[in-house]
Amino acid sequence: MTSTSGASTATDGSTGNLTSMETAALLGGLNLSDGHPRMPLTASQREIIDSLPVLFNEAEKRVFEEVEAEAQRTFLHGIGQLCAPIATGRLVTCYSSSVAMDITARALAQRTGHVALVHPTFDNIPDLLRGRGLTLLPVTEAELERGEPELPDEVGAVFVTTPNNPTGWVLSEDGLRRLAAYCARTGRVLAMDTCFRAQDPRAQYDTYAILTDSGAEWVVIEDTGKLWPTLELKAGFLAWGENTDLPLLEYFSDVLLSVSPLILLMITKFAQDASDGGYAELQELVRRNRQALAEVLAGSSVELTDPGARVSVARLTLPEDGPDAIALYEELAKDGTHVLPCGPFHWDRHGDGTRQIRIALARPESDVVRAADVVAGAVRARLDAARRAG
Ligand SMILES: Cc1ncc(COP(=O)(O)O)c(C=O)c1O
Repeated sequence: MTSTSGASTATDGSTGNLTSMETAALLGGLNLSDGHPRMPLTASQREIIDSLPVLFNEAEKRVFEEVEAEAQRTFLHGIGQLCAPIATGRLVTCYSSSVAMDITARALAQRTGHVALVHPTFDNIPDLLRGRGLTLLPVTEAELERGEPELPDEVGAVFVTTPNNPTGWVLSEDGLRRLAAYCARTGRVLAMDTCFRAQDPRAQYDTYAILTDSGAEWVVIEDTGKLWPTLELKAGFLAWGENTDLPLLEYFSDVLLSVSPLILLMITKFAQDASDGGYAELQELVRRNRQALAEVLAGSSVELTDPGARVSVARLTLPEDGPDAIALYEELAKDGTHVLPCGPFHWDRHGDGTRQIRIALARPESDVVRAADVVAGAVRARLDAARRAG
């Protein structure tokens, strides 16, 4: 439910889930809320959009499997995933990564009642897993990196988001090797959401080569939806291993026949353009915006939480004596600036995110600077008011 202030309110009076807050931000104002790209198209991306009628004609004529494999190959090879199971029957295309996530959650629930999930992470991942009846156990990024999380026997799968949203943490190549070996040894499925990996070269080692070598059962969810300002024209990819004993193909076919070949042709073009300099441009935009944020906040009592992150979102830590994240979120939303409070990312302990907000960086730099000014100003005003009162 959305209040007249533009802040999102659930029926129980709480602020609702993150997506409902992101939806409130679509109503207008300064939207630094969702992680979807909302910067202008580059000149070469605009040319691709201008060619959509031509791509439509091409899509009508070509065989779907060929168009799909081409999009998967161009996209996944362009981000280092040379061993992705293209054209094996173990890599399917979904309307979005959340659809791939829901299929994964349903399949995991056939196998186990308990899943260990990285904490914190974007809340639609725990919501979809729980929605399929799974009980979740939080694991930290550090435990996953060490590769030996201590898990009760009933936990049948480990779910990792890397790069993670909102922290930007990346599971290292050695970390994945350790974790995959652990899952193989203990008979657990290793599931990964790598939706943000095209933004961070540190996440572009060949995940599929490591997973396949490990002998573990695995599932990977990829995404084109966090990269290009294509108005939600995007796809999620769901891949799994040869020995992954989960009914993923069956559940996929319960949901859809195929995504649009027009979107797949568009993805091929965007992925080619990205490999020819578009990824470098995107990564530079995100780097500049993170730096602009840091510069505006320098000297204020608000700090960049993860200065080393490369993903297109940034967490800000609020001072202990200032407003908490929910209060600040509500105050800013009332005045038309939309960010996210980080509590819901901490899906097992909302309190861990009380002092943090998240700002989207796949935006024009001027939007990021304006939002940073608004945040710093609002926190300063609260601190000044508290000092005057005390
Ligand atoms: C890590 C991660 N995975 C998946 C999703 C879902 O993406 P979509 O809404 O495009 O399905 C999100 C959304 O922000 C996300 O942050």
